[in-house]
Amino acid sequence: MFELELSKALAVEGLSENDVLEALEKPKEAKLGDMCLPCFKFARSLRLAPPAIAAKLQPYLAKLDFVDRAEIVGGYLNIFFNRAKVADMLGENFALGNDAGRSDEGKGKTICIDFSSVNIAKPFHIGHLSTTVIGGALYRIFEHLGYNVVGINHLGDWGTQFGKLIVATRKWSSLEEVKGNDEYYLNSLYVRYHKEAEEHPEMDDEARAWFKRIEDGDAEAVAYFDVFKDVTMKAVSKIYDRLKIKFDSYAGESFYNDKMDACLDILREKNLLVESEGAQVVNLENYNMPPCLLVKADGATLYATRDIAAAYYRKKTYDFDKCLYVVAYQQNLHFKQLFQVLKLMDFAGAEDMEHIAFGMVSMEDGAMSTRSGRVIWLQDVLDKAVDKALAIIEEKNPNSADKQATAESVGVGAVVFSALWNNRIKDIVFSFDKVLNFDGETAPYVQYTYARCASALRKGGAYDINNMDFSAITDDDGYELVKCALAFGDSVRQAAKLREPCYVARYVVDLAEKFNRFYKDHRIVVDDERVRNARLHLTDCVAKTIKTGLGLLGISAPEVM
Ligand code: ARG
Repeated sequence: MFELELSKALAVEGLSENDVLEALEKPKEAKLGDMCLPCFKFARSLRLAPPAIAAKLQPYLAKLDFVDRAEIVGGYLNIFFNRAKVADMLGENFALGNDAGRSDEGKGKTICIDFSSVNIAKPFHIGHLSTTVIGGALYRIFEHLGYNVVGINHLGDWGTQFGKLIVATRKWSSLEEVKGNDEYYLNSLYVRYHKEAEEHPEMDDEARAWFKRIEDGDAEAVAYFDVFKDVTMKAVSKIYDRLKIKFDSYAGESFYNDKMDACLDILREKNLLVESEGAQVVNLENYNMPPCLLVKADGATLYATRDIAAAYYRKKTYDFDKCLYVVAYQQNLHFKQLFQVLKLMDFAGAEDMEHIAFGMVSMEDGAMSTRSGRVIWLQDVLDKAVDKALAIIEEKNPNSADKQATAESVGVGAVVFSALWNNRIKDIVFSFDKVLNFDGETAPYVQYTYARCASALRKGGAYDINNMDFSAITDDDGYELVKCALAFGDSVRQAAKLREPCYVARYVVDLAEKFNRFYKDHRIVVDDERVRNARLHLTDCVAKTIKTGLGLLGISAPEVM
């Protein structure tokens, strides 16, 4: 927020707000000020020596209340804040309550976020953790900034696997039995099918025939399909509840069955569709990519065909300004091809499509989600994290009320946070001990800090913010904490701009660390009323900010831990 205020004030003498914003730095040492502006970058465009630029800019800082003074050192403008004035700004921030960091910069803009997009007939595995929590965090972050957000679960509910499941159900089970069982049962049928089909390849023909019947709308086949979808949706909804994820649309692949022809017509009209060994493809040689296959020789459409139809449908339905796809980097080529084909089609939203890629999650013991069957179900990971959290809470605070609910929030929070802590593209090695470390860069650490704040606030009771001794929160540790609390909005904006929730994750850890440093040497609830008021006020702001920050990530903050 200081950067924003400073860049507004210094957008003068031929400099734009952005020029200043990009140049502003935090000095390496506190004695050089709170912020500094190196003026070297502007020398050429302004045709002035850097120290002369710094001198020209200096007077414009006078109108900023929180700026105490600025010094010109070489080509730098070193800016010093008035600590008490900065602390006073907490009041405004505090008045926002849980709306800290909120803005309306996205007003009037619509963002579609395609995320989670699980595959029907398979239990939710850990490979879908990142897309779900990164997408969910981006959803809330954009919403916090005033955007109209549309969360879309592009369900993987189409493909020959449904034919396979029908064959398996008819051979070894029944529709009734599937209905009465869970998604793991369904998966076991699928696994058994694959085993047996290796020796009986004719089963695949049968499966294809059944899938064709689904495509043709045959009632018996569709009845199976509906049950498979139902069983899976019930199961994934439970996971979404635990992860605090919601969607505005579940229009999945099957939804586009009757919407692909219109797109294929556009492609034909523009002479983009060519025949290749009976199949129909769009040639992307000029763009150094393999052709994009859209219709197989037998007439079947593909994943990419449905994605083209989905893009048109979303543009028409939501008139989005941006359409984000939160999908693993393994699908880089798919999205590059998709976006290129849409450009060739002169699709109106072609420039606004973005693939938000992320890395893989593997388990510490080497296990990974693969087709080979060593699949890690997300539900198991969440349950285990909750059990472990419960054990830790039992040990730390055996008398606390509602331990189970706290453990749910800590265990699930720990798993969610682990997928948000790094830049998206990094592969993650998941370790229960690491994510549940109460002293690490983890959700439990931040939650614990929140509970510590909450406890101090309970003890301190009501306080008067008009009667405070600022010197009680403007010593070095207090001042760092105050500044950090005020910078929450910056982290939210940065996260949105780069589509990287890790900026919020890193921020809440930083804020928690700064609070704990302050807390170590400063009692909050002291006798001196003016000091107590100031410290309670600061603690209150920190607590609210942590809660809001965690909330954006989809993590709750228990009052007691
Ligand atoms: N269901 C796909 C998968 O699990 C992800 C779908 C992503 N969204 C899309 N519009 N292609 O790999």
